[in-house]
Amino acid sequence: MENFTYFNPTRIHFGRGQIAAIDRELPSQSRILLLAGGGSIRANGVYDQVRKALGNRTLFEFFGVEANPDYDTLMKAVELARRERIDWVLAAGGGSVLDGAKFVAAAVPYAGEPWEILETRGAKLQSALPIGTVLTLPGTGSEANGAAVISRRSVRQKLAFIHPLAFPRFSVLDPETTFTLPERQISNGVADAFTHVIEQYLTYPVHAAIQDRFAESVMHVLIDEGPRSVRNPTDYDKRANVVWAATWALNGAIGAGVPQDWASHMIGHELTALHGIDHARTLAVVLPSLLDIQRTKKRAKLVQYAERVWEIDKGSDSTRIDAAIEKTRAFYESLGLRTRLKDYSVGADTASEVASRLKARGLLKIGERGDITPEVVERILRQAA
Ligand code: NZQ
Ligand code: ZN
Repeated sequence: MENFTYFNPTRIHFGRGQIAAIDRELPSQSRILLLAGGGSIRANGVYDQVRKALGNRTLFEFFGVEANPDYDTLMKAVELARRERIDWVLAAGGGSVLDGAKFVAAAVPYAGEPWEILETRGAKLQSALPIGTVLTLPGTGSEANGAAVISRRSVRQKLAFIHPLAFPRFSVLDPETTFTLPERQISNGVADAFTHVIEQYLTYPVHAAIQDRFAESVMHVLIDEGPRSVRNPTDYDKRANVVWAATWALNGAIGAGVPQDWASHMIGHELTALHGIDHARTLAVVLPSLLDIQRTKKRAKLVQYAERVWEIDKGSDSTRIDAAIEKTRAFYESLGLRTRLKDYSVGADTASEVASRLKARGLLKIGERGDITPEVVERILRQAA
């Protein structure tokens, strides 16, 4: 196992009615900015519950954070927060709203041009407002990590930053608030969480038994409960397991002390920036093809994955790896996510464009071994066509 420092400061309030816990979390004198998306929280009762929990606290509202939250939109929230001397940011919505809140919280006290926070991946951050969240779409893990991904449509970029100051102080996870999710969004969430596990698990062995067994458990739960929860959107127990699995997929625990890949995410973010494809769907396109192209370097873990996750225990290593990759593709498809670029009306020529964008950003060696060069990225995407 590699050395690691593990710390997760986010207090989780999980279960029915837990939005009321916000009252215990926020100081009574605080000046709060509530950040939200296009209105789903008004339709599903989350907004009313939040208002009730906040009581008489001073509240400002900013609605309209879009899916793949946009820098220009968020900068309007930053202006509002500075003008009104906001001292807490409360996010209510999916990963995009939570990520948006993390950016606003970091940008408000930032002295320079806030886009630098993204360009430097958070390296220069010295302070941030505290944030709390009410998560209504499981998948990204944003409710209990220090990462945020922000898009800037005017320059066709999508960049991430990671910083300990971006962890939410608290997050409310009430599975009932997710019952109103359209099928497309809950399937995206299951697929995104599953891919987060793969990015930290399917690399090379370092004898990290706890991380491996935890990762396999999270995948088993997503495979068992994910599709059922998509088909039965108001089944509390199934949804609760999906919500909690998604948190564990990216709260840092399974990734501590192990090599991590994240190439599918980096390539996927380019596909969203260029073509507007939903985040999870870009992963469903990239991952099966990446696993195939990297099959020699990932051999030991691919065989372990085949055996322990998909119970494929017969045949040569190569046959088992083929079967495991096919199971992975079939899992995405069973959730309703198509796995080829052409399914999204995107041609194979995007392969060279994505490769040159990564090159321009200096991302010349990605993946757990730093061996995914722009040329390999191009091959992965050509195979995904
Ligand atoms: O805008 P509203 O009206 O709220 O509607 C949203 C949005 O249209 C809707 N929705 C959310 N909760 C709902 C609901 N509709 C009905 N009922 C509910 N309970 O769902 C739509 C999509 O929401 P969004 O937040 O965009 O989806 P998701 O949670 O999948 O977030 C995607 C973003 O997260 C980033 C992605 O890149 C993308 O920008 N990621 C963030 C990560 C992190 N912070 O660690 C890691 C991930 O890998 C990912 O990159
Ligand atoms: Zn993701």
